[in-house]
Amino acid sequence: MEREIFTSDNIDFEFTEQGIESLLACKESEKIISYANNLCRKNFRGSVWIRGLIEFSNYCCRNCLYCGLRRDNKNIKRYRMSSDDILKTAETIIKEGIETVVLQSGDDLYYSRYEISDIIKKIKKINPKQALTLSVGERDLDDYKYFFDAGADRFLMKHETFSENLYNKIHPGQSFKARIKTIELLKKIGFQTGIGNIIGLPYQTLKDLAKDIMFYYDFQPDMIGSGPFIPQGDTIFKDFKSPSCELVLKCYALARIAVKSAQIPVSTASLTLGQEKFQISALKSGCNVVMAGFTPEHIRLNYKIYDNRFKQSLSGIRDTIEKAGFTPDCTRGDSLNLFSSARF
Ligand code: 5AD
Repeated sequence: MEREIFTSDNIDFEFTEQGIESLLACKESEKIISYANNLCRKNFRGSVWIRGLIEFSNYCCRNCLYCGLRRDNKNIKRYRMSSDDILKTAETIIKEGIETVVLQSGDDLYYSRYEISDIIKKIKKINPKQALTLSVGERDLDDYKYFFDAGADRFLMKHETFSENLYNKIHPGQSFKARIKTIELLKKIGFQTGIGNIIGLPYQTLKDLAKDIMFYYDFQPDMIGSGPFIPQGDTIFKDFKSPSCELVLKCYALARIAVKSAQIPVSTASLTLGQEKFQISALKSGCNVVMAGFTPEHIRLNYKIYDNRFKQSLSGIRDTIEKAGFTPDCTRGDSLNLFSSARF
């Protein structure tokens, strides 16, 4: 694909790794952010979508160095929700009128492909219009087709970082190449596919971030789940710092410019980084989705991917969206790629 040169009243840059890297390095971010905001408002007509999130298990067989759910962390209390409890929680989301249920967990192979497929089918039976997103990590490749055939619409598989070196260093026992292959397979199967990075990882450079944004541009995902690194006290990265709010906003804006059609949630980690004020800024930088947590209260705090996770009520989320000048929208909110084969 030929690299575009973006020229508008406001900004002028070449969509290459070098072009992006120098934008990330410059202090001036207002123009990029306002360009992304206008683009997003125009394409999504001022709506911001709300999704219902169920974090159904915090068991994980991986050992990602930055994550509190890592297998070797003995300090967290592990939990698994039963199929029945997952269904009950999904029902609450559906009753609220939220048309997307997101099922998220650590890489927990305890749940078989049959059990997960059964949950998907039962949720779809309650409301056939319901969109269902899975974010359950790397599994046997045949499982994904099973989930798709059971009715799952979307799959989020964050690539975490597009720097192969960094990826392999911080994901012991996993491989960057396998991750990318899995992401490509998900798209091929027919899922609305989400990718996304962690911004401000230890040892990550601006060049690495530019690679992430070029990956968005080249892959044109349906969703981008991207958020700041937040230290977690039980990991070896506990003393590393989070990135600046400014860098995160710039990354969101560039992600939006790279993929005009994608659904881009404000990461829940954004709340930890800069509370509601920062969430509002993110919504004005190209993000158009907010996640509402429905994980039952007594286990929610154990989903400790990072420290100081915040809980926001549904009415609080609606208020925030309105304060940012957008309209809360609980409909499915599919990727615009579904409606047009043309590149936005
Ligand atoms: N900071 C920010 N995001 C994190 N994740 C895990 N640990 C952290 C952290 N310390 C994100 C990763 C992973 C998901 C489970 O949570 O992107 O895919």
